[in-house]
Amino acid sequence: MKRVLVTGANKGIGRAVAEAVLDRYTDVFVYLGCRNLERGTDARNLLGAKNHEYLSRTKVVELDVTSEQSVCEAEKGVRRECEAAGTALYGIVNNAGVYSLPAGIAEVLEVNLFGIKRVLDHFYSILDTEDARVVNITSASGPNYLSSADPLVRRVLTDSQVTWDDIQHVVQLFLQNIENAAIVDQAQKASSAYGFSKACANALTVLQARLFPSVAINACTPGFIDTDLTRQLASMTGRDPADMDMKLPRDGVESTLFLLMAAAPTTTGWYLGSDCKRSPLDTYRAPGDPEFKGN
Ligand SMILES: NC(=O)c1ccc[n+]([C@@H]2O[C@H](COP(=O)([O-])OP(=O)(O)OC[C@H]3O[C@@H](n4cnc5c(N)ncnc54)[C@H](OP(=O)(O)O)[C@@H]3O)[C@@H](O)[C@H]2O)c1
Repeated sequence: MKRVLVTGANKGIGRAVAEAVLDRYTDVFVYLGCRNLERGTDARNLLGAKNHEYLSRTKVVELDVTSEQSVCEAEKGVRRECEAAGTALYGIVNNAGVYSLPAGIAEVLEVNLFGIKRVLDHFYSILDTEDARVVNITSASGPNYLSSADPLVRRVLTDSQVTWDDIQHVVQLFLQNIENAAIVDQAQKASSAYGFSKACANALTVLQARLFPSVAINACTPGFIDTDLTRQLASMTGRDPADMDMKLPRDGVESTLFLLMAAAPTTTGWYLGSDCKRSPLDTYRAPGDPEFKGN
């Protein structure tokens, strides 16, 4: 049995990823990482209502990616189970994410960037060193943000040799600039913070792939999906998710499942579009456009 942890698994894309893994791979056990146990249990019950057998292949793990203690406790619990089963953890899907409204800018960075780092730093030691996968769910907002970003930020966040100090440096610059910026439009500020956090998460993926060469670590976008996160966008503009061409959560799982289960394990440090094709970090590539062939 392969063991996989999905963060933010109680709803939206995280729950859809867990469900698709259970549907398609009968040899996978899924830890449903949820910051709220009650919401996690409700999600597990929904999966069990679809197929009772899923209850034997799922467990809710309390996991708030912004809390060092929570991530540490979650890792201890999963480690104990893996040891008892005589196996290692096969995969991590870093899905937990927030948009910048109603969350503040600091929380967006805490969840979307630092959360991803925190989870791998704690869980790396229980990953299978022969065959493990990490998928960081980022967003096309990252490349969109970088396409018009300050040249220094763009250079740092697309550098194949980027370091954690470099990423922290641009985070500090971003926080100073947004504080002083004349942006009065809260929606624009929120969009900018979200895009920046995802550009940083893509750069972190490149760094993690370099630091942990025995693990295939990649990022991807799910596409534009109708969830609580994007419904905020719709309501801000007074539009309906269907008019905005949003797809259902179950249609947003393919790039994640490809990286988690199917891609060649040598693919590492890449960012994929929702069509499972490699995309650049600083320019939007639409599904169906030619694959990115850069370094
Ligand atoms: N929807 C899209 O079109 C789209 C596009 C590109 C990328 N993404 C990315 O896809 C991921 C999933 O988003 P979604 O659209 O499915 O949004 P969603 O429905 O709002 O789900 C977000 C999930 O993240 C969890 N979460 C938030 N903060 C957390 C924390 N501190 N610790 C642990 N879990 C936390 C939420 O838990 P609670 O229920 O407890 O809040 C929820 O389970 C995000 O990373 C998002 O940026 C989405």
